[in-house]
Amino acid sequence: MSKSAPESGKPKSPTKNIPVAPTSQPASALASALQIRPVRRGDLNAVIEMDAMVTGIEKRDYWNSLYHRYANAVATGQHFLVATSGDEVIGFVIGEVRDWEFGSPPCGWVFAIDVRPDVRLAGTATHLLQAICQGFMRAGVSKVRTLLSRENTLILSFFRSQGMMIGPFIPLEMDLES
Ligand SMILES: CC(C)(COP(=O)(O)OP(=O)(O)OC[C@H]1O[C@@H](n2cnc3c(N)ncnc32)[C@H](O)[C@@H]1OP(=O)(O)O)[C@@H](O)C(=O)NCCC(=O)NCCS
Repeated sequence: MSKSAPESGKPKSPTKNIPVAPTSQPASALASALQIRPVRRGDLNAVIEMDAMVTGIEKRDYWNSLYHRYANAVATGQHFLVATSGDEVIGFVIGEVRDWEFGSPPCGWVFAIDVRPDVRLAGTATHLLQAICQGFMRAGVSKVRTLLSRENTLILSFFRSQGMMIGPFIPLEMDLES
């Protein structure tokens, strides 16, 4: 990792409109304007490739099923957004509003956010998160949550930089014996 985690919990100023132009450290691959928009079927290969790059596993069936569930479901608070630069998909974010999960009032959950490794640190994930949060706010919620692996310091640094703090829940798990 090239940078240390930011110390402040202060959120960055929100982006008011979509599409947006990158504001910090524009990488050459982002020379043309950054756009955030709902996913289209033609974006799926790029999303699958990006996820495989990050996780090391290609999950084509999983992404196809996610596409069917989220692509046209904004009205129910589900969002699958991509960031594009020119014709290229360079990032994505997925999340939804969940009502009374774990006993908490409706809030937005971010399940996944990824930016292509060669264009990171140019503000793309910041814009993706702001766009999905705008969608959550339009759905009437005022809180956003996520869950992440405690080993993943990169994603932790990113969410901390956006103003996210430790929440009130504790994840628990156990092995199921057959
Ligand atoms: C985390 C990730 C989404 C960030 O994307 P990005 O477009 O590079 O993020 P941004 O440029 O918007 O960065 C915003 C802030 O996050 C923090 N940040 C991002 N990358 C960082 C890094 N490598 N080290 C430390 N802080 C970092 C910084 O505070 C940065 O602000 P700054 O550039 O002004 O210092 C990207 O690195 C990624 O896709 N990583 C893999 C994600 C992953 O593991 N996904 C699976 C679980 S969902």
